[in-house]
Amino acid sequence: MARDSRPEGQYTDKLRVPEALTFDDVLLRPKESRVEPDEADVSTRVSTNVELNVPVLSAAMDTVTEGELAVEMARQGGLGVLHRNMDLDEVVSEVEYVKRADELIIRDVVTASPDQTVREVDAMMENAGVSGAPVVDEDDEVLGIISGTDIRPYLEVGDADEVREAMTDEVITATEGVTAREALELMYEHKIERVPIVDDEDRLTGLVTMQKILQRREYGNAARDDDGSLLCGVAVGPFETDRAVAVDDAGADVLFIDCAHAHNLNVIDGARDIKESVEADVVVGNIGTAEAAEDIVGFADGLKVGIGPGSICTTRVVSGSGMPQITAVAQVADVAADHDVPVIADGGIRYSGDAIKAIAAGADAVMLGSYFAGTDEAPGRVITIEGKKYKQYRGMGSVGAMQSGDGDRYLKDEPDEEDEYVPEGVEAAKPYKGSLEGELHQLVGGMQSGMGYVGAETIPEFKERSEFVRVSSAGQQESHAHDVMITDEAPNYSPGE
Ligand code: XMP
Repeated sequence: MARDSRPEGQYTDKLRVPEALTFDDVLLRPKESRVEPDEADVSTRVSTNVELNVPVLSAAMDTVTEGELAVEMARQGGLGVLHRNMDLDEVVSEVEYVKRADELIIRDVVTASPDQTVREVDAMMENAGVSGAPVVDEDDEVLGIISGTDIRPYLEVGDADEVREAMTDEVITATEGVTAREALELMYEHKIERVPIVDDEDRLTGLVTMQKILQRREYGNAARDDDGSLLCGVAVGPFETDRAVAVDDAGADVLFIDCAHAHNLNVIDGARDIKESVEADVVVGNIGTAEAAEDIVGFADGLKVGIGPGSICTTRVVSGSGMPQITAVAQVADVAADHDVPVIADGGIRYSGDAIKAIAAGADAVMLGSYFAGTDEAPGRVITIEGKKYKQYRGMGSVGAMQSGDGDRYLKDEPDEEDEYVPEGVEAAKPYKGSLEGELHQLVGGMQSGMGYVGAETIPEFKERSEFVRVSSAGQQESHAHDVMITDEAPNYSPGE
């Protein structure tokens, strides 16, 4: 029998493969529209109980999201997800840092005691970076309040005098539950800038300051919980129930089970245990197929999609396994939609156009690492290479990142001393980008443009109304700037960095 006329079989059948697409394979089909991009509403749900004003998350990576970037993400309406390469105390204090950053009532109040000298209190306030302090006795009962204005004349003529002499003893206080508006009214009426919060025995429990209220006003679009604190996401390993409980207790709003292959059945068992042990929403990932979604959607508050699309990922070349991201998102979203569970598209997004394509494929929000790694708020310092500024960006499965944490995300044990890690990521650098606010503005603005081209006012409407066309490689070339020499860098486009 001739070779090519052999009957079909088990292995030749495998070659009749389904097609899987990614960002560059598709474009959004333009449609009739009355939607002006600036008016498109990008608010969304990131998990069953958590809403965002901006459908963007920063990746749980040690060169992307620690407290500082998470605070800025939430202030801009999105969500930062703290990475796992921190020990437990560190991550708990980062969660507390985010939750406290914009709280109305300050809890770590700098206080003075009545028998300190004015000089001591002046130095103490300067060290702590505050310009006033409630004066309390040993039981925390509020006796007065002292400010820079009270202190100034004493510094000239009597800096050894006791605080009780210099303080204002008629203190205007409020109780727990005071709103920003009520506190402002008190400040206005009594011409003061601080209102101590007391319990029913006049003991200090917190402080509201004019500065904090004004700062909160600046971020009208911020993603906040019911108490007005910024939202905070945290990545935990599938077998880290204790860590999950600790960050949950610290106030995390969404936990992300962080695993490169969440369709591993042990990972699913671990994720289910964690879900049963915490109050926060639990998003499970990463997955890339409908079958994985079916196995997880019953208990998860969100599904995160991405097997190998990330800019620093080498999972697909190292393991030979993966799923082009547009198809992966669509497969998972088909299942998630039947259960009303949100989907997050994680990895591979280079441009705002990729982000809105991911939403068209069925995601409710997108997660990005490389896009934010070059910003001021990302951990690490700016380095200069041949006169150009960069920040470090590395995969969590790179050798360096695994040495700083562990290989758990990749379901790998730590190697014995003589062995080497088998990495699934690389260590790299990203051009320095300036503020996160500027980057996010470009990203969200581009996504809104996409909504305008499709004629959808909201994310749910866009998910329903958008359609794809398939793009040839000639079409891809046509999409990029071509046949020109770019003379001025655009803030939202650079053809491959
Ligand atoms: P981008 O493309 O935004 O992707 O830089 C960020 C996402 O990539 C995933 N990630 C990795 N995947 N090896 C991988 O295969 C790695 O070392 C690695 N580190 C991060 C992760 O999902 C992240 O959000």
